[in-house]
Amino acid sequence: MQLEQKNVLLGISGGIAAYKTPDLVRKLVAAGAKVRVVMTDSAKEFVSPLALQAVSGNKISNSLLDEDAEAAMGHIELARWADIFLIAPATANVMAKLSHGLADDLLTTLALATPAPIVIAPAMNQQMWAAPATSDNINILNQRGVNFIGPASGEQACGDVGYGRMVEPEEIVSALGEHISHAAKDLQLFAGKNIMITAGPTREALDPVRYITNHSSGKMGYAIAEAAEEMGATVTLVSGPVNISAGANIRCKQVISAQNMLEAVMSDIATQDIFIACAAVADFRLAEVPTHKVKKKDETLTLSFEQNPDILKTVAALKNKPFTLGFAAETNDVEAYARSKLSRKNLDMIAANDVSSSELGFNSDRNALTVITKNSKTELAPASKKVLAQQLLTLLHSEYTATQQ
Ligand code: PMT
Repeated sequence: MQLEQKNVLLGISGGIAAYKTPDLVRKLVAAGAKVRVVMTDSAKEFVSPLALQAVSGNKISNSLLDEDAEAAMGHIELARWADIFLIAPATANVMAKLSHGLADDLLTTLALATPAPIVIAPAMNQQMWAAPATSDNINILNQRGVNFIGPASGEQACGDVGYGRMVEPEEIVSALGEHISHAAKDLQLFAGKNIMITAGPTREALDPVRYITNHSSGKMGYAIAEAAEEMGATVTLVSGPVNISAGANIRCKQVISAQNMLEAVMSDIATQDIFIACAAVADFRLAEVPTHKVKKKDETLTLSFEQNPDILKTVAALKNKPFTLGFAAETNDVEAYARSKLSRKNLDMIAANDVSSSELGFNSDRNALTVITKNSKTELAPASKKVLAQQLLTLLHSEYTATQQ
């Protein structure tokens, strides 16, 4: 579950334990991770790139100057792609380079270029592990927040016995899952930021006892609120009527209609850094709501609707507008409609949500999104709404940070 849909960048350096990495990749993929592999030249002496390509399903990256890789996914792109950078096995030499910020090959360059947390599974001779220089390097890396898995103790390939063996792939996968779930929270990407999220449906009255609404359950918006709060944001959730409740640290403003939602949003928008419109707001409301219950007088009933205010568009038109992420729930031509909303509503980012399948989107526990900006498009594959919320917020953070520079 913890590795589901996570982008794991695996760096393999040249130690005998590298022979275990095809099994490691296989187990990561079985745990739901997407794996890309980068190898040092010496790692290729211990394990075949072809074997790793076969188990990961992706081309292996090796050189900073690889023209193919630059075209498809340059080192910066690869560094940004990663949710976590696992280096296994990490030799004493690679750890020394990392501690000093050397970047003389693709693996060490990625370690400098990635904003993702770095996790190291060391593998070396026990004497090398115990060497004062290695201890110093471990201390430096520890202070920078690099996490270690192992090494284990036992008999080594050279015949020595002691600490220095790479831990078994199964154990690495399970420890990595733990790191991943802590990483999003630990990173506190949104510390000091105010994020407002709209969620759920709105209800538009037809008379004092009837209303029209839609199938939004609020699950997606509440998952985003929860994930944003875990990442350090101060969250204001403006929610239409739903059957779920928000976490204790989330300020939740309950509303009914689109007009109520607009008022609740606008009264606090001036202090917000980021605005995420996930609510399924009714586009229309009754032009005049009768004050008494409508009686069954005739065979047919004709109602006249007028447009509701567009909350997202109103926020995006503000002079000091926050960073705006809109959603686009569509059943056909999903990307085209989303792109048109991105430009028409003057948004920074839009999450296109194909709601044509009952398995995903409205009122389901899972969802999938295509996140579009003026210059990028990222597919977030089907996953639980919580996992998707974390991925969406990680993408939003990179984009938001870029707009602040
Ligand atoms: O709540 P769930 O059951 O978990 O389902 C999640 C979801 C499918 C509702 C959610 O993922 C989603 O797609 N939300 C957007 C739904 C929608 O109304 O999309 P839209 O294409 O009609 O609107 C475009 C954007 O403008 C949305 O960000 C919407 O919040 C916003 N909007 C629309 C109309 C309006 N009057 N005011 C708005 O702010």
